[in-house]
Amino acid sequence: MRKRMAGSKMVWFPKQRWVVTLVALAIGGVAGCGSPVAEFRPNVGFQLKTEAEAEAQLTSGQQENIATILEGLFGTPDDPQIPEVPGVEMAQLLDETALKMAGGAVAVDEDGRTVGLYRQHCAHCHGITGDGMGPTAEFLNPYPRDYRMGIFKFKSTPKNSRPTREDLHRILHEGVPGTAMPSFRVLPEDQKESLVQYVIYLSMRGEMERLLVPEALGVGELGIEGDQLFLDMSKKATDNEVFVERSVYIQEQLATIGNRWLNAQSDEVPAPPENWGSEESLARGRQLFFGKGACSGCHGNFGLGDGNTTFDPEKPFLDDWTKENWPVLKGEEAARQAPIRAAAGILEKRALRPRNLRLGVYRGGRRPIDLYYRLRHGIEGTPMPGLEISTGDDPKKLTSGDVWSILDYIRNLPFESLSQPHEELRNLKRERL
Ligand code: HEC
Ligand code: HEC
Repeated sequence: MRKRMAGSKMVWFPKQRWVVTLVALAIGGVAGCGSPVAEFRPNVGFQLKTEAEAEAQLTSGQQENIATILEGLFGTPDDPQIPEVPGVEMAQLLDETALKMAGGAVAVDEDGRTVGLYRQHCAHCHGITGDGMGPTAEFLNPYPRDYRMGIFKFKSTPKNSRPTREDLHRILHEGVPGTAMPSFRVLPEDQKESLVQYVIYLSMRGEMERLLVPEALGVGELGIEGDQLFLDMSKKATDNEVFVERSVYIQEQLATIGNRWLNAQSDEVPAPPENWGSEESLARGRQLFFGKGACSGCHGNFGLGDGNTTFDPEKPFLDDWTKENWPVLKGEEAARQAPIRAAAGILEKRALRPRNLRLGVYRGGRRPIDLYYRLRHGIEGTPMPGLEISTGDDPKKLTSGDVWSILDYIRNLPFESLSQPHEELRNLKRERL
């Protein structure tokens, strides 16, 4: 059993302790257990987008059914569960003790350990569901990460791969500089580990939900028709075949989701070339920034993040999360969805800017290796592309040495004079005339 921590915040005022206890009892009396039951919210943005694509709408029965299935697999915010997946070493991914430490309401357990760490430290930004829609979110730019797509920006793995656990640990340790994401380096290691696991847990749950919605709308892999429930418990006895088929589908998808996390591996980073850090390498990097690397189109001729391609108001840069929440809709569907979107509290649409590289603030970390990963693999979920590299045979492609040279140039930008356009820029202007 957990003791509620509502009162312990007031411990500094011993005389008032009894008041707090009384208040807690009074609330408990009304609400049943001291606070409103925390719930996982449905992914309304994804649902609306899929409904528009499917030209169909989820019935309330189908919505409930999806919630029930997800609860069966992952439990509730107060009682998180690890789904059992045959053939997948879920124990290597998620550990029940860790999950219980991060999940649930903020409290102190029998052994005096604080539990409910996610709600204590993260939920006000990232939301109980990990949808990035906590109460603080609307005031922040960039918005807090929505984990439900399984997409993370600052990682050591190639595109379309999950981050490694170490990547998530690094984010917790360092925070994301230049954004509201704070560093949690003061937390003990076991607490950070439990939070990392909880992020993975919420992300897996979110991904599973994203598979069930299109299935129920008839645009998924199984091609289910009509207003059927995905798993109709009442038909388990009479229509066992369908029931088994769909249960197997869930297991298979869960296995894929789980394995993606289990198999995430940092990409190998080739050693920098010998002349790395030299004037020569810097000059090469500068050339590539404007030339083959094609960075200036977005980051601008001065690296200020104001490239030509960012000024078209018709085509703002949007990240994947915004694109999902704000799909382009036709008149009638737009009118139907607008109030639903507003009621669900979907965050306002915002354009994304390429980074101002003159500031020298790198969200994904400023170690050369962090920046190498950024340039090599881009920033997933955003228009920032990665660089194709070859061993040198293909003149159109860059070599890993070139990537290191661009990195030399990037790291020099905060110190480079703005008032004197360098050679490359002058040539570029002449070409345009
Ligand atoms: C004050 C708000 C705030 C709090 C509190 C907060 N975060 Fe964040 N978090 C953010 C923002 C904002 C971003 C997005 C940064 C970006 O996109 O550049 C983010 C991003 C992340 C990411 C994604 C990094 C990536 O590579 O994409 C993870 C993981 C994360 N936070 C975990 C946590 C955890 C775990 C906690 C609690 C221990 C937490 N955050 C607390 C605001 C917050
Ligand atoms: C299509 C537009 C586009 C191109 C081309 C592009 N970038 Fe970016 N870049 C972005 C955007 C957008 C961001 C911000 C993404 C975010 O953090 O959400 C970004 C972020 C960055 C960052 C910040 C990383 C961090 O950790 O904060 C660096 C460094 C960077 N870009 C370098 C480059 C270099 C070098 C090139 C060329 C090889 C390049 N970019 C090409 C759009 C672009």
